[in-house]
This record gives sequence, structure tokens and C-alpha cells, in this order.
Amino acid sequence: MKKCRKLDNINLLKAGVAQWQSNAFVKRRRRFDSSHRLHMIPEKLIKEARKFAFEQARLFNAPPARLIEIAVQKGKEISEKLKADAGLVELGILLMDSQLGVALKEGKVNEHVSMGEIKTREILEKYSIGDIMKENILTCIREHHGVAKFSTIESEICCNADCYKFCSIGGFVASIRYIRDMEFTELMSYLEFKADEKWNALSLDFCKDELREQFNLIKRVLKDCK
Ligand SMILES: [Fe+2]
Repeated sequence: MKKCRKLDNINLLKAGVAQWQSNAFVKRRRRFDSSHRLHMIPEKLIKEARKFAFEQARLFNAPPARLIEIAVQKGKEISEKLKADAGLVELGILLMDSQLGVALKEGKVNEHVSMGEIKTREILEKYSIGDIMKENILTCIREHHGVAKFSTIESEICCNADCYKFCSIGGFVASIRYIRDMEFTELMSYLEFKADEKWNALSLDFCKDELREQFNLIKRVLKDCK
């Protein structure tokens, strides 16, 4: 009888320890989750960037909405593969060419990157996301045409996802369909220039491997169209 009570006490003690461990685990998870959330891009900011980017696409068709969608989708896929911040990548892709239409209209296409950075700063002013996160977002815009050494993995993903606009079959077909205000031979030359430019900007080997066959096919088609 005495032995039985002793066993009951041990079992109660074990159950108590298990309960305590379980509560501590939940608390640790909560602590981790909330601190992780602190560093995430607010959904409201992504929504605002999406609205702005597609408004600009409607106004100027540069880049066409379909090409933005292709780069955003690819950015998500690469972010998942490399375990990068998908929200930061999406934001970078949405805003990186958001001033391209305005820049083209004003005859200063080469300034679209710095113009995009200024516009992004304006948007970010309304959000309390910290200076480091703001700088990480601006870096994605600043480096989206490629640099010798990328500052962050998200910035590198933005650049590589951007290349799918002109080096993938989907991007090529969408460009022919949606870039309408160009004479045919001018459009073919432009698409060849962009395909070469983006092929050289690709830095991630698995992206280059995925696009190699598509890029070569695009080059063959363009050659035939000359
Ligand atoms: Fe650009």
C-alpha cells in the first residue's frame, strides 16, 4: 500500500514536470513567433506596394502587369528554396521598377532606379519597421540590375527574379503581347537587348540552369525574326 502511494507520487511528479516542460515550450514558441513577427514586412505595406505597382503598370505599361506577376511569382519560389524573407523580396520586386514608366516618359530611363528609391522612401515613411528593414528594402531596389556582390540574399533574389521577365518563354511571350507601342523590328531588337542584359545579370546558378534552354530558344526565335 505504501509502495503504491509512492508510485502515485512519482507519477504525479512526472506528469507535473511534463506539464511544466510543455508550458515552457509553448511560451518559448510564442516568444520566438512574436519576435519573428517584429521583423516581418507588414501585409498592409505589401498591399500598398502592390496597388501602387499595378497602378503604374496600368498608367504606363512599363513594365506590363504580366511581367511584374512573373517576377513576383518567381521571387516567391526562389525565396522558399533559399529560405529568404519572401515578404521583403515581394516588396522589392513590386517597387524596383515602379518608376520605370515615369522615367521613360521623362526621357531618363537610366534614372528609374534612383527614382524608384525616392518613391519607396516616401512609401516607407508611413511604416514603423525600423531603419535596418527600410535599408534592406531600398537595397533590393538599388541592386536589382545586378552588382558584383549583393548586400543581402533578398536583393540577389529580386535581381534574379527580374531576369525571368526577359529570359523565360513566359516573359518573352508576355512582352510580345503587352509591349504594344513599338514597331516590330524595334521590339525584336529591344527584346534581344533585354534578354542579353538579364542573362548576364543572373547570379544564381540554379536560375541560370533553369533558363539556359529558354534563353537559347528566345535568341533563336529573335534571330529568325530579323
Ligand atoms: Fe529596372
